[in-house]
Amino acid sequence: MAEVILKGIKKVYPHSEPQKKRKKGEQEKKINLQITDEGVLAVQAFDLEIRDKEFIVLVGPSGCGKSTTLRMVAGLEEISGGELYIDGKLMNDVAPKDRDIAMVFQSYALYPHMTVYENLAFPLKLRGVDKAEIDRRVREAADILDITQYLERKPKALSGGQRQRVAIGRAIVREPKVLLMDEPLSNLDAKLRNQMRSEIIKLRQKIDTTFIYVTHDQTEAMTLGDRIVNMKHGVNQQVGTPQEDFDHPANLFVAGFIGMPQMNFYDAQLVKENGQYAVALESAKIVLSPEKQANLERHGVQPQAITLGVRPEHLSLTGEGARMIHGTVDVTEMMGSAVHVHATACGHDTIMIVPTMDLKDSSILTIGSPVAFTFDGSVAHVFSRETEKNLEFGG
Ligand SMILES: Nc1ncnc2c1ncn2[C@@H]1O[C@H](COP(=O)(O)OP(=O)(O)OP(=O)(O)O)[C@@H](O)[C@H]1O
Ligand SMILES: [Mg+2]
Repeated sequence: MAEVILKGIKKVYPHSEPQKKRKKGEQEKKINLQITDEGVLAVQAFDLEIRDKEFIVLVGPSGCGKSTTLRMVAGLEEISGGELYIDGKLMNDVAPKDRDIAMVFQSYALYPHMTVYENLAFPLKLRGVDKAEIDRRVREAADILDITQYLERKPKALSGGQRQRVAIGRAIVREPKVLLMDEPLSNLDAKLRNQMRSEIIKLRQKIDTTFIYVTHDQTEAMTLGDRIVNMKHGVNQQVGTPQEDFDHPANLFVAGFIGMPQMNFYDAQLVKENGQYAVALESAKIVLSPEKQANLERHGVQPQAITLGVRPEHLSLTGEGARMIHGTVDVTEMMGSAVHVHATACGHDTIMIVPTMDLKDSSILTIGSPVAFTFDGSVAHVFSRETEKNLEFGG
């Protein structure tokens, strides 16, 4: 049980010697804004309040600072600025072993010469826990993770998924207040990854711990997290439940990162007619939903050139003429229950997910054939071209 608070957390990795000599890396500075005179700015102004027993997922592309954030919480990396609290206690200068935290790594890091039982018992032995208690906790963890039958085996005689369970077991025997996991499933093949994902959901129900989980996989983030922290360039972009992030992405980055296949984006216009906001794309005009009207109105958003975002599952092939957008089919992929139609429209690549049931006219499956589609005013996302922020949040 633990509440974890990160307040203005920052991490700067100092430049290594050869870089310093290279006259402050003038070349690099232009390419990467994160490289400053101080060093590499891996995490900046990071604020997050994690509730007791919450499952938080840090997600974002490679290099965005996920592992660095996790390692600062674990105490494996010094905190350059800001404050870290666990259960109200300032942790910045507390040694990792005194933080009551356990971490599971992508590489299982098991001891090859020890049996599964010994691997699980090891962290408890180090802490001087008595034998009977060690045995109880090892068996309980093995039971939770369904690895009891492998307790006498060595790691090399286990599959990848089984090894990862042992690694998780070794973290939970200590009954830590906070369990940190850094891409624990990324070494597993797709099928095993799906299976282990549901195992982690079950594990979570069985143990009373706060989870902080790092992944670059938006599906893992969506399925595991109570809340998702979207990161880019060391900056926390948006914190929300998976549904909040999906329905109301704060900016273009989150909109494009969350959701599979990716949201479609178009250059469009936000217009206002008879007091109603609408999006205009080619000759089509779509009036926004009352909720979106109210949000834009509240922030006094002016008509402007926008980036319009619509998810593939929200594009529809049926609608009145004045609402239709026209394109040409590039490729179609039959997925069984739905067809993914890739088209070019308004000079942009578009993906539509069309349920097979709704596919009345199969000529749409022909490459090069014309296609017309539309969407509802409740699923249009409007982003500022300048700031890339969602205009419903004020832009
Ligand atoms: N020891 C280090 N010294 C200098 N720079 C580092 C060090 N470790 C990480 N960085 C830099 O800090 C930034 C964040 O790295 P981090 O490992 O936290 O990213 P990540 O989000 O975990 O990426 P990935 O998904 O690839 O694991 C990157 O630009 C990286 O190059
Ligand atoms: Mg990482």
